[in-house]
Parts: sequence; structure tokens; C-alpha cells
Amino acid sequence: CGIVGYIGLSDVKEILLKGLEKLEYRGYDSAGIAVRNDAGIHVFKEKGRIADLRQVVDSNVEATTGIGHTRWATHGVPNYTNSHPHQSASKRFTIVHNGVIENYHLLQDQFLPNITMQSDTDTEVIVQLVEHFSNEGMTTETAFCHTLSLLEGSYAIGLIDAENEDTIFVAKNKSPLLVGVGEGFNVIASDAMAMLNETNQFIELHDQEVVLVKANEVQIKKIDGTLIERAPYKAELDLSDIDKGTYPHYMLKEMDEQPAVVRRIMQQYENEAGDLTIDPTILQAIKEADRLYIIAAGTSYHAGLIGKQYFEKMAQIPVEVHISSEFGYNMPLLSKKPLFVFISQSGETADSRQVLVKVKEMGHKALTITNVPGSTLSREADYTLLLHAGPEIAVASTKAYVAQVAVLAITAAAVADQLTFDLKKELGIAANAIQSIIDRKEEFATVVEKFLATTRNAFFIGRGMDYFVSMEAALKLKEISYIQAEGFAGGELKHGTIALIEDGTPVIALATQKEVALNLRGNVKEVAARGAHTCIIAMEGMDEAGDTLTIPHVHPLLAPLAAVVPVQLISYYAALYRGCDVDKPRNLAKSVTVE
Ligand code: G6P
Repeated sequence: CGIVGYIGLSDVKEILLKGLEKLEYRGYDSAGIAVRNDAGIHVFKEKGRIADLRQVVDSNVEATTGIGHTRWATHGVPNYTNSHPHQSASKRFTIVHNGVIENYHLLQDQFLPNITMQSDTDTEVIVQLVEHFSNEGMTTETAFCHTLSLLEGSYAIGLIDAENEDTIFVAKNKSPLLVGVGEGFNVIASDAMAMLNETNQFIELHDQEVVLVKANEVQIKKIDGTLIERAPYKAELDLSDIDKGTYPHYMLKEMDEQPAVVRRIMQQYENEAGDLTIDPTILQAIKEADRLYIIAAGTSYHAGLIGKQYFEKMAQIPVEVHISSEFGYNMPLLSKKPLFVFISQSGETADSRQVLVKVKEMGHKALTITNVPGSTLSREADYTLLLHAGPEIAVASTKAYVAQVAVLAITAAAVADQLTFDLKKELGIAANAIQSIIDRKEEFATVVEKFLATTRNAFFIGRGMDYFVSMEAALKLKEISYIQAEGFAGGELKHGTIALIEDGTPVIALATQKEVALNLRGNVKEVAARGAHTCIIAMEGMDEAGDTLTIPHVHPLLAPLAAVVPVQLISYYAALYRGCDVDKPRNLAKSVTVE
């Protein structure tokens, strides 16, 4: 979910709607805004997208204070009633909330037995509690603080009060939230991107702080009331970075940016001598560790699997890769000197963050590899390496994955005592290879028509590095085209999954690893013999007549950088062909800030 708020000079409706549009990647199953003027608080909300919300906002209502929310449903189905903002019984207080309140049932039973809840959400309990304590005689600020002290779970909150015209009451715990500072106005947002139209000066908020945002003042307080001074920082984001330009979809734009992203990373990680390396302190921390624990979710997890190969093959450092949502509750036996490496495009994924909090409590060091400077995972880890991929808006991650793989390669190479190849040269070659694949986009549209036009399912297979790319390929295809897909190790298919192969089942094989190419071709024959419709994407040098697509030769360790691009494009065209919403696939959100 994403939240925004504004208090100040201008009419607030358009500012909130524009802000929510920029946050739509965080959830888009319902949205709403609440604006406050002398007549009271006016709430507009709607199931669906921000575009749907626009239709129901009354343009005649004028106000200069308001809050807004775009939702990714956790408690309660996505519908009008469950969408935010939520109001207290008397409608005096109105709230937007991102996160999950774990003890909301208990709080409801204890404090609000006589209140009829209007929605199925945990959020409503917060706003009803504020009203409850306010009715007992507390000021709004005290009622708000008292409510916060009772909440267990995660929250980013914006609250407005019909009887207090000059304040938005704000707080956060575990969920991201920033205050943006303007002249004569101030804003709040889950992500700086949402309010870049208004300001580029932002103040970070920390967990359990209470913030009173007024038009000319921002008061940050500890829960005990002590005031905190914190200077704003300048968000180094360019509005043009988050503009789709002439592209029909962000995903296409972001895939096109991939060669430039690899080149930018090479520049950013080049030292004065022209070598690719990383910050010496981080280098030291990695060298001192006896084992790396890579923690990530989704696409970032798949990049982590490649990262393990890099650290183990280039630098002989043992690595374990874990899915963050599992690791937190099912921790393996740790080595004596572990270093935790969090990979996260957004730097906000709650599943990863809960692991970070746990391992920090245990006294371990952590490195975050993220695309978003100042993100929660970056701030809370000891070290950060940035991806420099520019904002990624499409829900399906493409350029961030390529950036993660490139940064992991540079990091592992920097730690290695000696390398058997010239990484800088090979990364340059990989960037060119990506470019040449992108320049041949149309070929991938043809593959889709031939293999994926009507199928219900599909398989990707590969061996070695290609196996990891196959997993990412399957995720990409599932996410945006809704074709049920699985990525398999080529040799493993015959141990069970081959039972699913029927006449015409598409099997897309990646062949970029010379030492296993022959075995992989054997696996392709096994499925072809059982009726599969096979498509081989091979790297130059190991291609054969009859292969569907050939990609330029790159170093075998860097092959994922090139091999992932055809499967991204195939997924993109499959989604287009099937009429799916490429940038905003159903049920997903780009940044999942709940566990
Ligand atoms: C969400 C997105 C995925 C992403 C995952 C991890 O589920 O839909 O595309 O890979 O989160 O996100 P992160 O920002 O931590 O890389």
C-alpha cells in the first residue's frame, strides 16, 4: 500500500491523486482520499485504480489539507468499504494506514465493544481508538500517541481531525514513510517519488516517532514527547526518470534501459585506477566473514542464487541463499562469523526487513544491496551497495535484476584474490549483448505467437547458471501473463515433472553453459519425444541448426545477464498478446511492505 498527505496552500485533490498515481506500483486494488475544509472531512474512495477514483472525486469540494491511500489488500477483500481512508464513528477522525496491526481484535474487544465496525480492516480499529480516547477527554495528539502505544505490528499512518485544521498526525513503525518539506506547505509520502512534483526536500522518519505535520512546521517527537531535530535531505530523483515517455509500458522502457544500467554500474564502481571495486570497508567486512547469508524475496532471491555462484566460484566464500519470509521463522544453524546480505530492489520488503531486525538484534553485521538510497533496509544495515538502475516502476522487475547480478559480480570479483578473466571487459561485452538482444525485440513476439499464444502452462529448463535464470523466467511469465510456469534444472525434469508434458506443452530451454549444453540438449529431446513443443535459446558458440533463438556470446558466469533478456521479452509479449495489464499485474504489488 502507499500513502500520501498534503497540508498547505493549494487545492489538495489533484496533488493527492497525482501522488497516488506515482505510488500505484505499491498496490492498486482500491484507492481513496480524504480532504478537510471548514465543512468537515470529505472522503472519496473507489475499488480499482486511481483512474477509477478520479471519477468519483467531487471537483467542487475545495480543501488544502488531505490524505490519500492506494491499497494492496491484506485484511478484507478489495472493495469500497474496506478501502481507505477509514473514519471514526462520529466521522471526526479520518485515517490512512499502510501495514498490519496484529492485535486489532484484542484492542477492539478491550476498548471498542460497543462500536459497530464499518469495515473488515485492522485499520479502522486505529481510528476508532483515537476517537475513543478523545471522547475520554484526551487531546487529539495524546489520543493518537496513546493509541500508538497500544498497537502491535507495522504501520505508516496519516490522520486528520475535523476539529483541528492545522495538523496531519503522522507516525510509522516498520512501514516506510517520509515527510516532504515545502514553502508554505508540507507533505507525507510512502516514497519520495510520489511528491517530487511538490518538493525534493524530505525528512526521514524513524520507527515509533510521532510527527505533527503543519503547513509551516514539522514537529518530530519521540513517543514520550521529546522533540527531535532532523534536517531534510535532497532526493536525488529526476521526474523524467519516472516518466514513461513514449513507451507504451514501463516494463518495455525498463528492459530497454538495461545496457545503460550495466554501463552506469561499471562507471559507479570504477576506482581511480580504472578498476571495478567496492568500498574498502565493505570489502573488509565480506573478507572477515566465514559465510555469507543472502536474504531476499521474489526476483531478488533469484539474483541471490546467481550471487552465490559468484562468491563461491570467484572468491571461494561459502554462501547460503534464503527466502526472507522463511528465514525469519526457520533460521538455519549459523556459522561463527556470518555476514548477512540483503538484496532488495525497493529496500522496503517487510519480509526481508524482519530478518534484518532479527539478525541485528543477534549482533550480526548486514549489507544491503538496493536500488533505493535511504530505503529502510539501507538505513538499517551496516553497509549499502547501490544498484544505480534508476526508479523501477513496472511491477515485474527487469533492470533491477540485471543490476543486482552485475553488482554481485563486481562485489565477488573485488573480494577475489585473483580472477581468471577481465570482469570489466566481460561486463562491457555483456552490455553490448543485451543491447543486441533488445534491438531484435520483434523476434520474441514471434516466439510468443508460436509457443505461448494459447497455452495454459509452460516450462523453462536450464543447467548450471541457466537453471537460476529459468526460475526467474518462470516467475516473469507467471507474474504478467498468468501462464502457469515453472523453472527447472534440466536434469531434474525427468524425476517427476515430465509427467506434466503433453502434446504441445511449451518447454523453453536456455543453453549458455558449454559444459552442460549437450546434457541439456538431451533433456530437450526427452521432452520433445513426449510431445513437448520445444524452444531453444542458445548462446553463440553452442548453438545448432534448428535452435529458435541465438544470443551473442558472453562470459559463462555473466551469461545470466544476457540470457534473462530474451525471457523478459517473451514474458512481456506473452502478456501483451493475452491482453494482460503488463505494468500492473493482478494481485501483485511492487513493494510489499507487509509480512
Ligand atoms: C514483490 C514484487 C517482486 C519483487 C519482490 C521483492 O513481490 O512483486 O517483483 O521481486 O517483491 O522485492 P524487492 O524490492 O525486495 O526486491
